[in-house]
Amino acid sequence: MNLSGRDFLKLLDYSKEEILYLIDLAKVLKRKKQDGESHRYLKGKNVVLLFEKDSTRTRCAFEVGAMDLGMGVTYLGPTGSQMGKKESIADTARVLSRMYDGIEYRGFEQTIVEELAKNSSVPVWNGLTNEFHPTQMLADIMTVSENFDTLEGRKLVFLGDGRNNVANSLMVICSKLGINFTCCAPNQLFPNAELISQCKTFAAQNHSEIVLTENVEEAVTNADVLYTDVWVSMGEDASIWKERIDLLQPYQVNKRVMSMANPNAIFLHCLPSFHDLNTKIGKEIYDKFGLEEMEVSNEVFESSQSKVFDQAENRLHTIKAVMYATLK
Ligand code: CP
Ligand code: NVA
Repeated sequence: MNLSGRDFLKLLDYSKEEILYLIDLAKVLKRKKQDGESHRYLKGKNVVLLFEKDSTRTRCAFEVGAMDLGMGVTYLGPTGSQMGKKESIADTARVLSRMYDGIEYRGFEQTIVEELAKNSSVPVWNGLTNEFHPTQMLADIMTVSENFDTLEGRKLVFLGDGRNNVANSLMVICSKLGINFTCCAPNQLFPNAELISQCKTFAAQNHSEIVLTENVEEAVTNADVLYTDVWVSMGEDASIWKERIDLLQPYQVNKRVMSMANPNAIFLHCLPSFHDLNTKIGKEIYDKFGLEEMEVSNEVFESSQSKVFDQAENRLHTIKAVMYATLK
């Protein structure tokens, strides 16, 4: 498998074999990390990380991943560079490609990361846009595969805002890998029709199903994986909270919902998560609306079925695999 020089912008651009190759490579790199075996395969190279939105996991995974591979790293945050204000995306891409071997971008529209890649002569990696979160998906499916002996034919259910980057990307990766995908949400929060239709084509080729339903019981029956995400994503206006809470409260993943899934089902969440009152926004929501936990109950989040910290760790190994495969 040769992915050298490829961008990693969205999973629609990747085949089933390429996705599985990256997950397998991540498992090899995870083992090396655990064994303390040096893997500085990209010594002498440098990468730049462009973040127009906040991040803990993605930024740290790119930084530690790059350092483990022997590379130098520059982080450029939402302020402090010329990008977007005095310099266009196209010019930024052409400048950074003269200095770096790879460019990560987290920000707003998918068109921005696509434009960056079009004008860059080195690989560009999408660290989250409004539409897609492809590096997250590799960690998620890696975590599923660490908990079940096969991927094909499994049932993964996403409950929440079905139009967000994580839901969209889950629908894509599941349809490419032959995993049955259910989006459980009020119908105004279903993914866009064009993406559904593209994914249904992949799913048919891989003998799996894409289901959209408003009914929680129907969705989670026979599920192997329950997955949720925040109800309001980065970049959305805070004024939308009230409407989202009203729409999505019935879709919270709690003990009752979890108990309707398969007994060995696991719970996943890309994180960060509002499962208690130990966050600033969590407290503000509690003061305004009286909710102590949102998309997932604290009980489920802290339960043995919850694999969210394995999933978070796997961000490192999978992001490292993407950098290594595309830069080697
Ligand atoms: N899951 C995820 O992308 O987390 P961060 O926003 O912390 O990077
Ligand atoms: N949907 C979330 C994912 C965060 C990792 C957001 O975009 O804020």
